[in-house]
Amino acid sequence: MTVIRGATTISKDSPEEIRSAVSELLEQIESRNALKREEVLSIVFSSTSDIHSFYPAKAAREAGFASCSLFSAQEPEIEGGLALCIRVMLFIEKNIEPHHVYLRGARILRKDIAQKYNIAIDGPAGSGKSTAAKLLANDCHILYLDTGAMYRACALAALRAGIDVADEAQVCDLMRGIALTVLYQDGVQHTMLDKEDVTALLRSPEISMAASTVSRHPSVRMKMVEKQREIAGKMSCVLDGRDIGTFVLPDADFKFFLTAAPEVRAKRRYDEMVARGEKVDFETLKKEIVARDEQDATRQLAPLKKAEDAVLIDTSDMTIEEVLKTIKRKMQEKI
Ligand code: DC
Repeated sequence: MTVIRGATTISKDSPEEIRSAVSELLEQIESRNALKREEVLSIVFSSTSDIHSFYPAKAAREAGFASCSLFSAQEPEIEGGLALCIRVMLFIEKNIEPHHVYLRGARILRKDIAQKYNIAIDGPAGSGKSTAAKLLANDCHILYLDTGAMYRACALAALRAGIDVADEAQVCDLMRGIALTVLYQDGVQHTMLDKEDVTALLRSPEISMAASTVSRHPSVRMKMVEKQREIAGKMSCVLDGRDIGTFVLPDADFKFFLTAAPEVRAKRRYDEMVARGEKVDFETLKKEIVARDEQDATRQLAPLKKAEDAVLIDTSDMTIEEVLKTIKRKMQEKI
C-alpha cells in the first residue's frame, strides 16, 4: 500500500472554493502519481478550523471519487498555523514512490517538495529588507542571496586597487581579472574575491557609497545580474536588492518593496553601527543614506524602483516580526 499526502488552501470559506480546491488537488495527485480512481482505497481530509461551509469529502465524492471511502475531520485552532487549509491523505492499493502534492498557499508547508520559487525583496538602505529576507529564508528553508554584498565586494576590490570607482572601464577591467563568488556555509552567505572571504569587510560607509557608484556601471551590473540569475535559476531563494523585482527576476513568484522614512532608516543604521562599536555621527549618516538612495534611484540601468506588481510595505512603524508576518501573509494570499 502507498500513502500520498497533499494540501491546498482556499481564499474564502465557501462551498464553491472548497469544491474547486479539492478537485484541483485530487486531479494533481492523480496525474502526478499516474493513478487510476479504482486504485484509491480511501481518502482522509482534514481542514483548518476556519472552514465550516462544506465537507471536503463531499467535494471529493462530487468530483467523481465514488468507490473509495471518504472522511473529513476538522483540525484544532493552532496559533500561527496556515489559514483556510485543506490537507489530504490518499491510501492507494499498489506500491509506488509517492509524489506528494502541495498547492496554492500550502506550498509553503513543504518547501522541500514544492516547486522552485523565488522571492524578491527590494528597497532602499535601512528599509529592513535584508533582515526580513534573512529571516524569511530561514523560515522557508531556502537560500538568502544578498545581492548588495556583490556590489560591495566589487567596490572593495576597486578601492584596494586604488582605481576610481566612478570609472566604468577601469572597474570593469579590474573585475575581469578577479573571481567574485558567493559561497554558503550553514546557510550563511560568504562573499569571496578570488579565494579571500571578504564578508566582514563590506559594511563600512565608504564601501556603501562606493558600491552604489560601481553599481551604476552597466557592464559591472550585467556581470552581477548574470550571477544572480544563475543562482536563482537553480534553487529557491530570497534575493534582496534594488532591482530584483524589476530587472533581475521580473517573473519572481513573490515581490515586495520595503520602504521607511529616511529618519527611521538612518536611525536603524546608526543603531547597528553603534552596536558594532563604531563611532558615527547621526546627521552625517542620514545625509549619506539620502545621497545613496538618490544615486541608486537615478541611475540609468535598473534603478531602485518598486516593480508594479510588488507589494509595498512601509516598515517605519513596524517591528521586524510584524514585517515578516506581513510578508508571509501576503505570500499565502497570493498562492
Ligand atoms: O543592499 P546594500 O546596501 O548592501 O547595497 C549596496 C549598494 O549596492 C546599493 O547602494 C546599490 C547597489 N545595489 C544595487 O545596485 N542593486 C542591488 N540589487 C543591490 C545593491
